[in-house]
Amino acid sequence: MNQAEKERAAKVGKKLNVKAYIKAEIEAIRAQVGDKRVLLAMSGGVDSSVCAVLLHKAIGKNLTCVFVDHGCMRLNEAKEVKKVFKGKFGINLIQIDAEKRFLDKAKGITDPELKRKCIGGEFITLFADVARDLKKKLGDIEFLGQGTIYPDIIESGVGGHKAVKAHHNVGGLPKDIIFKGLVEPVKYLYKDEVRKVGKALGIPDEMVMRQPFPGPGLAVRCIGELTKEKLDILRQADFIFRDEMHKAGLDKKAQQFFAINTNVKSVGVKNGARTFGYVIAIRAISTSQFVKAGVVPLPFAFVTKVAEKIATKVKGANRVVWDITPKPPATIEWE
Ligand code: XMP
Repeated sequence: MNQAEKERAAKVGKKLNVKAYIKAEIEAIRAQVGDKRVLLAMSGGVDSSVCAVLLHKAIGKNLTCVFVDHGCMRLNEAKEVKKVFKGKFGINLIQIDAEKRFLDKAKGITDPELKRKCIGGEFITLFADVARDLKKKLGDIEFLGQGTIYPDIIESGVGGHKAVKAHHNVGGLPKDIIFKGLVEPVKYLYKDEVRKVGKALGIPDEMVMRQPFPGPGLAVRCIGELTKEKLDILRQADFIFRDEMHKAGLDKKAQQFFAINTNVKSVGVKNGARTFGYVIAIRAISTSQFVKAGVVPLPFAFVTKVAEKIATKVKGANRVVWDITPKPPATIEWE
């Protein structure tokens, strides 16, 4: 057994006992943090959501969560996060609408790696600004909360994206806002275990059962330069596809399913008039570890129904293609 395995065995045992884990983790957080403050970057994903509720149960108002909308979030994401975490749980949640700041920064960038770096770098800068501001307002914030999970810390980390994920886990913060400690209450759990803990904590299924969503968000699914127009078109198409997948019960067959704005434009006809709009791709994959992925054989009638709905309802999109490429050779995300 290596060190990480030993630590996991000590925390989780052979099989996770959800109730006992929650109780022990709340006590462990209280013992670590005492009456000091914790800042947590919340993405709306499962891991940071579960982390937020555990921390809130342990230290209440001494937890401040920050949700940054970088303009590449899915439809209604910020609203849903607010409704659940501020509304239902009463968590101290600061939402930052930074769409313009991020899109201005990313203007003109078309290279996929540069786009990722731009968003990751801007995220750290913005989070650092927020942390500095809060420290001025609230006094010292000694701890940084992180939704690190077990696959992140073992060698076979999800898709080998540890370095990229770092921006999400705000690893590269500048020196003047280094925290005295990290609080990582789901660090020894696998994803399915995090979901179980989340359910037991009363987090709604829509949040707990969410598919993984990359840190740079729709930026890696919107090919070429990021513009609000292209992202808005993508958000609507993506919502229609995901909604239809849920309604048809096909969500249970896929680990990830989403739409892509291909940045290609084609001619179409709507209401008897010629249109020139974006080609949207849809992708649904099945995988266990995200290192390899297969294509979910969606029923053909379902695919054509979704294509027609997107091309009819979404202004600015007039054609839909289905990505039927496994990983490898393709990656799951397009960029
Ligand atoms: P790929 O596209 O490499 O994706 O086949 C494998 C898994 O990793 C997710 N992914 C990311 N997750 N930050 C993340 O937090 C990222 O930059 C990132 N890029 C890809 C992807 O959604 C899939 O689950």
